[in-house]
Amino acid sequence: MPGLQAFAKDVWIADGPNVRDFGVMFTTRMEVVKLSDGSLWVNSPVAVPFDTLQRMNQLGPVRYLVAATPRHVWRLEAWHTLFPEAELWAPRSTPFTLKKGHLPLTGILGDRPPQCWADNLDQLAFKGNPLIEEILFFQRESRTVILDDLIQIHPIVKGKPFRNALFKLAGVASPDGGVAHDIKMTFTNRKLARRSLERLLSWDFDRLIIAHGPCIEKDAKPFMREAFRWLERGAR
Ligand SMILES: [Fe+2]
Repeated sequence: MPGLQAFAKDVWIADGPNVRDFGVMFTTRMEVVKLSDGSLWVNSPVAVPFDTLQRMNQLGPVRYLVAATPRHVWRLEAWHTLFPEAELWAPRSTPFTLKKGHLPLTGILGDRPPQCWADNLDQLAFKGNPLIEEILFFQRESRTVILDDLIQIHPIVKGKPFRNALFKLAGVASPDGGVAHDIKMTFTNRKLARRSLERLLSWDFDRLIIAHGPCIEKDAKPFMREAFRWLERGAR
């Protein structure tokens, strides 16, 4: 498993072990951003080898541990033990939250960044879906959007016909990927969702980190537009 990989200036990613969800294996990835005060902001942390933790310690103190979606809240637990001083932030709970947990949260992530990381990161809550409300982030300096689950690109794996067929049917198979058809159907308030999309597209970004699939290092905006074309259809 590769350790911490530099993605852009002051932005790193690290892939974790695969996890099983709905009977299917998913890859995991976390994102690390160095803020201008020198501290580290860690999104959706994963299990990493000791040398990755050592490398992070050299980069700066881990001050914020964030779960971008209600389904990633469980991931904060182990890291809270490792970094008890770090602030914990999670999105609001939804029926899709995997585990309520009893973590001492500093705050609930909303549609605007808290002051502590607002100099470096903007954020929005992608609304319109009562089951799951993911928080998307924008690191201004490297023009990178950080998105965990909403868009996925799953590679076709040799010898795994069931898994491949499932991802193809869901509309998230490589090379194009996209928003899974079942997730599209659960966006019951399209008007709210379009408003979130509009705000997302107003960010001046060129790179995109996703948690499930290859990240996009250039021209991420046209890719994003295409991935959300279904939402624009029928809009007035
Ligand atoms: Fe995920």
